Amino acid sequence: MASKKLLLLPGDGIGPEAMAEVRKIIAYMNAELKSGFELDEGLVGGSAYDAHGKAISEADMEKALASDAVLFGAVGGPKWDSVPYDVRPEAGLLRLRKDMELFANLRPAICYPALADSSSLKKEVVEGLDILIVRELTGGVYFGEPKEIRDLGNGQKRGIDTQVYDTYEIERISGVAFELARTRGNKVTSMEKRNVMKSGVLWNEVVTATHRAKYFDVKLEHMLADAGGMQLVRWPKQFDVIVTDNLFGDMLSDIAAMLTGSLGMLPSASLGAPDAKTGSRKALYEPVHGSAPDIAGTGAANPIAMIASFAMCLRYSFNMVAEADRLEAAIAGVLDDGIRTADIMSEGKTKVGTTEMGDAILAKFKALAA
Ligand code: NAD
Ligand code: IPM
Ligand code: MN
Repeated sequence: MASKKLLLLPGDGIGPEAMAEVRKIIAYMNAELKSGFELDEGLVGGSAYDAHGKAISEADMEKALASDAVLFGAVGGPKWDSVPYDVRPEAGLLRLRKDMELFANLRPAICYPALADSSSLKKEVVEGLDILIVRELTGGVYFGEPKEIRDLGNGQKRGIDTQVYDTYEIERISGVAFELARTRGNKVTSMEKRNVMKSGVLWNEVVTATHRAKYFDVKLEHMLADAGGMQLVRWPKQFDVIVTDNLFGDMLSDIAAMLTGSLGMLPSASLGAPDAKTGSRKALYEPVHGSAPDIAGTGAANPIAMIASFAMCLRYSFNMVAEADRLEAAIAGVLDDGIRTADIMSEGKTKVGTTEMGDAILAKFKALAA
């Protein structure tokens, strides 16, 4: 059996609270289903800074690179607001993405039937929604140089970030989007701002060329990213797969999260390129939400984004498709039963905390296995 080395990086705030619920599922799978996950654990974000003065230690970085998959909770919080920029909690996540070369971030936004009236949008707008945002994750303005605050010497400073994309980066992310579209609604919408950005012009050209060369069977449309944000709120069901850059992808996926009812619902998979020999790929699975300092420690966080991220891990890293399907069905089943954390609560439903939600999903997962 191929190895199943799983590194858990719970992080800060609600990260560890949500990760505890995944840990229970893994413990059950190892004990009862003989799934054979080898667990290791490390520190990332503010918790790593408190322990080592860095947002991730070299030892934990090595563990991440040697693992078959990483499960990541969330990082950040007001406690670390004034630490130096290079060692701020978020730097740990950015280093993991960059050093593991996780260029493809898959952010599915699915509106579970039971939550169609939990969204801030009308039920008919979100009911049955199933879209996938494919966000480029290792390039663009997140990593482009120069990136600095420059002292202009006249009492003024200049903040500089640089948006950079090379052809190969756009080719490989659009390839991922087209391949995934073929397994779903067969449509890709590429979003950039070619009307004001040179990187947008190149993005548009390369996506078009990639489509012509290899994916002519997939429907392709182009949209300016600001209009794309508007269309996501107006009529999100027009989309199947959206491919976009690092920064637009960050913003558009938070918007997409609210279509599903809550940021606490959205999982993601961050994937590297498949190894030419083995076909295996480096991968990190992370909820789209952050450390939610406003509710951390209250036991109210929704663990579904974290649990659904583990389901993506089962699917993409370990090819455990049946288990992934069953875990996703368990989430849907618990929502059908009317069980809700505070963020997705509505009238007449049963409000529970993080632990109870995790327990309910595990119980459903067990029942579906029987
Ligand atoms: P956030 O995602 O932490 O929270 C935004 C809002 O959504 C808050 O009101 C929060 O309570 C709510 N929310 C988020 N996840 C939830 C969940 N699982 N259940 C219930 N409610 C949930 O974003 P923010 O407040 O802008 O950022 C807080 C910190 O998190 C910052 O330091 C930021 O940099 C960091 N952050 C980290 C990640 C990550 O680790 N992947 C992602 C986004 C933000
Ligand atoms: C996300 C987060 C991160 C990002 C931060 C925490 C670095 O907002 O994963 O969506 O901006 O990519
Ligand atoms: Mn974000």
